[in-house]
Amino acid sequence: MTSEAKIALITGGSRGLGRNAALALAQAGTDVVITYKSQEMEAAHVVAEITALGRKATAIQLDTADTSSFSIFAETLGGKLNTIWSRNQIDFLVNNAGIGAHASIETTSEDTFDQLMSVHLKGVFFLTQTLLPVIADGGRIVNVSTGLTRFSLPGYAAYAMMKGGVEVFTRYLAKELGPRGIAVNTIAPGAIETDFGGGVVRDNAAVNTMIAGQTALGRVGLPDDIGPVIASLLASGAGWVNAQRLEASGGMFL
Ligand SMILES: NC(=O)c1ccc[n+]([C@@H]2O[C@H](COP(=O)([O-])OP(=O)(O)OC[C@H]3O[C@@H](n4cnc5c(N)ncnc54)[C@H](OP(=O)(O)O)[C@@H]3O)[C@@H](O)[C@H]2O)c1
Repeated sequence: MTSEAKIALITGGSRGLGRNAALALAQAGTDVVITYKSQEMEAAHVVAEITALGRKATAIQLDTADTSSFSIFAETLGGKLNTIWSRNQIDFLVNNAGIGAHASIETTSEDTFDQLMSVHLKGVFFLTQTLLPVIADGGRIVNVSTGLTRFSLPGYAAYAMMKGGVEVFTRYLAKELGPRGIAVNTIAPGAIETDFGGGVVRDNAAVNTMIAGQTALGRVGLPDDIGPVIASLLASGAGWVNAQRLEASGGMFL
């Protein structure tokens, strides 16, 4: 049973939505490799939680904005897969790691734009490219986008542009990886209470109330609203879902 478990790699699995997806996958019987950028202790805690659920897990440091580190990351991943699982491939890749930045078009600096592009667009493209040989045929990829690609809120132009690019990338990945039996989908969460963007959705009462008022289900999202959806896209019966954008927002701005 253990040796037959699927293995998921989740970028940014130390906190927030990535952590929640890692736990949801573990609860569904999947082993997990998470990455973190700087919060090593948080990542170790997630690994311990997964282990307590009876699944295997490990954490690897990765800065998804640093493309020059990707080949070394792949080597490190290969070593862990071999040591822990006696395998050299993963089954699932979840491109989740991300940062928030809020600035109007008028005030967005080139540095902020470049940072968002590096993490959310270039990093996703080249990390996926690097890992293509490491994803097993018949595997799956989930790219994390945002509801902000469908609806527009002032201050999120650059961020949403990058996520829009990720949604296009999803469709092209699905096209090119189809011959290998790999399905690729986008999940687009609405506003969720995490540390994201300085925790504004969780900690700013006015923002929280505004979003809840624009959400059909009448509240802001929680990590538990997202992780299980990511896990469901990677479940054994969902492999025919391909090249789709699935919004999980409780019905924001309908
Ligand atoms: N929360 C929302 O409202 C919301 C809505 C729609 C979409 N999203 C998207 O969901 C994803 C996860 O967001 P979240 O809310 O879970 O954020 P979060 O709670 O702030 O967690 C961010 C995660 O990404 C990692 N990370 C940040 N920058 C990184 C980098 N340069 N390289 C590698 N890892 C990095 C962090 O690692 P460390 O712990 O080491 O810092 C952490 O694990 C993001 O792509 C975000 O755009 C979020």
